[in-house]
Amino acid sequence: MIQIAPSLLSADFSRLSEELESIKKAGADMVHLDVMDGHFVPNLTFGAPVIRALRPCTDLLFDAHLMVENPEDYVGPMAEAGVQMLSFHAEAAVHADKIISDIRSRGMSPGMAVNPGTSLSLLDTVLPQLDFVLVMTVNPGFGGQKLIPYCIDKIHILRRMADTCCHRLKIEADGGINPENAPLLKIAGADRLVAGSAVFGAEDRKKMITALRG
Ligand code: DX5
Ligand code: ZN
Repeated sequence: MIQIAPSLLSADFSRLSEELESIKKAGADMVHLDVMDGHFVPNLTFGAPVIRALRPCTDLLFDAHLMVENPEDYVGPMAEAGVQMLSFHAEAAVHADKIISDIRSRGMSPGMAVNPGTSLSLLDTVLPQLDFVLVMTVNPGFGGQKLIPYCIDKIHILRRMADTCCHRLKIEADGGINPENAPLLKIAGADRLVAGSAVFGAEDRKKMITALRG
């Protein structure tokens, strides 16, 4: 079954603990944590201290998405903060292989993220080392954007790439996802859908998560 990861970016930041409880009750499989540094993307969110403070508030898995320069500096702090899945951007990584093994050796599941305009060929050498790839379906930085249609084709291509070398690889799609486009992402081969504004903006979050799951 497809997994749904609501992005806390669209939550009410003054009530994060209650927001976590609300998505847990609504059936979320995990929570997606968008870590932005104001350099790699033109927006600034939260980092390890906030994530660490949220850890005792929920037993939801923490799926942290690093949209930062120098992602290697974040691996230790994210592990200590209680993150289970950690992805970093291919565009920001000079030593991707090393970052992946650092993430794994600290007991987290490693993923790499690619921007809409980035070729999947950047991933082919490290694909067997990864547990998942996060395919951005919007340009990163902000919630509430419209999905870029050609990114759905990238998911399809990545699924075929993975079939030959690493069929256990999970594909996470992130950005602009709603109940209308979710079926297309699933058909293309996505295993996990991140949804921020769709879930947190919904009147009935449970209904929304069920609709996204399809
Ligand atoms: C964008 C983030 C996404 C974002 C998704 O930079 O990586 O996770 O929060 O939000 P929506 O679903 O509103 O596009
Ligand atoms: Zn994200």
